[in-house]
Amino acid sequence: PLRVVVLISGSGSNLQALIDAKNKGELPIEIAAVISNCPDVQGLARAAKAGIPTLVLDHKTYASREAFDRALMAAIDAYTPGLVVLAGFMRILTAGFTEHYLGRMLNIHPSLLPKFQGLHTHQRAIDAGETRHGVTVHFVTAELDGGPACVQASVPILPTDDAGLLAKRVQRQEHVIYPLAVKWFAEGKLSMEQGKAWLNGELLPASG
Ligand code: GAR
Repeated sequence: PLRVVVLISGSGSNLQALIDAKNKGELPIEIAAVISNCPDVQGLARAAKAGIPTLVLDHKTYASREAFDRALMAAIDAYTPGLVVLAGFMRILTAGFTEHYLGRMLNIHPSLLPKFQGLHTHQRAIDAGETRHGVTVHFVTAELDGGPACVQASVPILPTDDAGLLAKRVQRQEHVIYPLAVKWFAEGKLSMEQGKAWLNGELLPASG
């Protein structure tokens, strides 16, 4: 099975979706480790409960972003993963880091990219008067939230929504599409070439 390292910063519900899919026999992966930049988060407890090795690299204890990224890279590479999965990992990565994992690192971002890159996406989508919002799984490049998209799911924005309600509706889709994208990658169907995402040799339309 494909060796995967998952990076988290928080609750780890997307990590849980991967663990659950794997336990159901739907994902040909081995989660070699879960690494968090925040100590004591729920995602670490989820990993421990699933018997997955965990590691905390607290970015606050490093002198610079470069120093943190170097340490993180060394920690990840010690597990020799074929894929790095960012699952609610809330750190901006240096170009050296993204270059090192180019074509073998995925992120999930809670918007219909290229709309609403960055933070507070749900509130911003509501404020912009959008009628739909959603989530994107994409390959990570040096451009923040700018790498080629692999899969998207969209949900309606209801008049009664606040950011929290909308985030919950989006998250239910996150937990469907992230295991799907990881499955495609693990099966050798999903790849990044020429700066674009490909599925079964076909260009993915949302990949730019
Ligand atoms: C998810 O909603 C993910 O889309 C978002 O963080 C949440 C993490 O939840 N990611 C980003 O905002 C990336 N910039 P989780 O820890 O429960 O998986």
